Amino acid sequence: MADSFDLVVIGGGPAGYTGAIRAAQLGLKVAIVEKRGTLGGTCLNVGCIPSKALLESSEHFSMATHGDFALHGLKMAKVELDLKAMMDRKEKIVKSLTDGVAYLMKKNKITYFSGTGKLLSKSSVEVTLKDDGKKEVLETKNVMLATGSVVAELPFAKVDEKMVVSSTGALELDKVPKHLIVIGGGVIGLELGSVWLRLGAEVTVVEFAPMICGISDQGAAKSLYKILQKQGMKFLLSTKVTGVEVSGQTVTVTAEALSSDGGAAGQKPADPIVLKGDRVLVSVGRKAYSDGLGLETLGIKKDPRGMVEVDDHFRTSVPNIYAVGDLIRGPMLAHKAEEEGVAVAEIVAGKPGHVNYETVPSIIYTWPELASVGATEEQLKKDGRAYRAGSFPFTANARAKTMGMTDGQVRILADEKTDRVLGCHIVGPRASDLLAEVVVAMEFGASSEDIARSFHGHPTLSEVVREAALAVDKRARQS
Ligand code: FAD
Ligand code: NAI
Repeated sequence: MADSFDLVVIGGGPAGYTGAIRAAQLGLKVAIVEKRGTLGGTCLNVGCIPSKALLESSEHFSMATHGDFALHGLKMAKVELDLKAMMDRKEKIVKSLTDGVAYLMKKNKITYFSGTGKLLSKSSVEVTLKDDGKKEVLETKNVMLATGSVVAELPFAKVDEKMVVSSTGALELDKVPKHLIVIGGGVIGLELGSVWLRLGAEVTVVEFAPMICGISDQGAAKSLYKILQKQGMKFLLSTKVTGVEVSGQTVTVTAEALSSDGGAAGQKPADPIVLKGDRVLVSVGRKAYSDGLGLETLGIKKDPRGMVEVDDHFRTSVPNIYAVGDLIRGPMLAHKAEEEGVAVAEIVAGKPGHVNYETVPSIIYTWPELASVGATEEQLKKDGRAYRAGSFPFTANARAKTMGMTDGQVRILADEKTDRVLGCHIVGPRASDLLAEVVVAMEFGASSEDIARSFHGHPTLSEVVREAALAVDKRARQS
């Protein structure tokens, strides 16, 4: 007799495990199927968490070796890098968090199947167990597909996770490369490029577009670009990589400039560019993953990019089968995936589950960080929407001065007539945490005046947000 459930979740990442917990809280009988061997998905195992652990550790190393601690009057005789200890710390953090998710499954009485899930029909899921390869069939009223995404590769740059690495390999290099060539100046390229730059590698980022950071607000992106350049990161913008060749311990990357303004070396479009390094990071995006899931059997549709098509309620073309997270349209972010998982759990339990895509924060965890929410100036201009903007720099903030971290600024965009906050773009220390108040403000439909009139403790970095809000009405107090 097959086990029977109200909801079977396939995929144990942020979308899947968060959705499973919410469904269990609402009284549903839930199973979760994960093939990796540990819960937590890309984010906890090979994404958000290990990358942030290394960013944190490498930032400490950089501060100790680049004189930042000396400015505080702390002299260090000799600072040495113990890369293995740094990696061990990262692994411990990952383990404690993935074990924590397993504990949450137990606590919420969610049945966890360690194995690969496949749709057999609209009400049954086959699980091939990881341990012994045996198959089990689960009967279910609903299914949540949460199988996430995998690295997008380039046809001419085969990832071997040794010389040519994806983010996964870049999180576990066993020595600091002499020269790391990064293909793609998006989130992964800049975060993992920063890690290895801080640990002593020469890092060259080759980016197809005229600016780094993809679709981020261009003012914020340019500001981060200049700061990273000052830190020693090299960039070739408007440059297309055309080949990657590995020979022994050398990797040769060939590329061509797409316009005369492209390229740090100021090369002409026709000049071929040849870079030699000892590791290459391919970070040109990720693609939705649904291999072997059995979508075809049920006629579940995908869009041309391979993402599962869903309606406004996350229903696939088979109504009791839902899809969430990186597998569907929208930004590939853990918090977006989590909210969708929760929304589906609530919908399945008969509640009005909903996600507000206008307020999804987007953060690049470089130092300083770039954190954004809402519309960019480019979008507002394109839409012909009248707006006012207010900016305030961290250099004029007392707390930032005491920390010795004064790079960057906060910029708030508000509707010209109603003053409603439409977007906020922060480059600065702990921008990720500072953005949270603006996300809440936007969720409540607040105006820049609301932020400006709210108390902000003194001296805190958050006062820069307040001053930027005041600056929308040209009332900033210091600058
Ligand atoms: P995933 O986390 O990919 O989980 C899907 C799971 O499904 C996987 O564990 C997979 O093994 C499993 N699976 C697939 N097929 C099957 C099957 N048939 N049966 C059973 N199991 C299956 N986002 C942020 O918001 N902040 C960050 O700081 C951040 N940093 C990142 C850093 C890196 C290096 C990377 C690569 C990504 C990062 N992301 C970050 C993105 C984030 O990891 C993803 O958006 C998030 O994990 C998506 O969650 P998900 O649940 O949709 O999918
Ligand atoms: P990305 O989409 O952020 O950036 C890829 C970059 O590569 C783009 O700027 C693109 O123009 C460039 N590119 C594409 N093809 C190229 C080529 N042939 N030559 C040179 N450049 C090329 O993708 P990335 O960095 O791989 O990250 C994937 C996703 O993972 C992100 O979109 C994000 O959703 C998620 N992520 C989120 C993080 C966060 O929230 N802090 C951290 C890391 C990943």
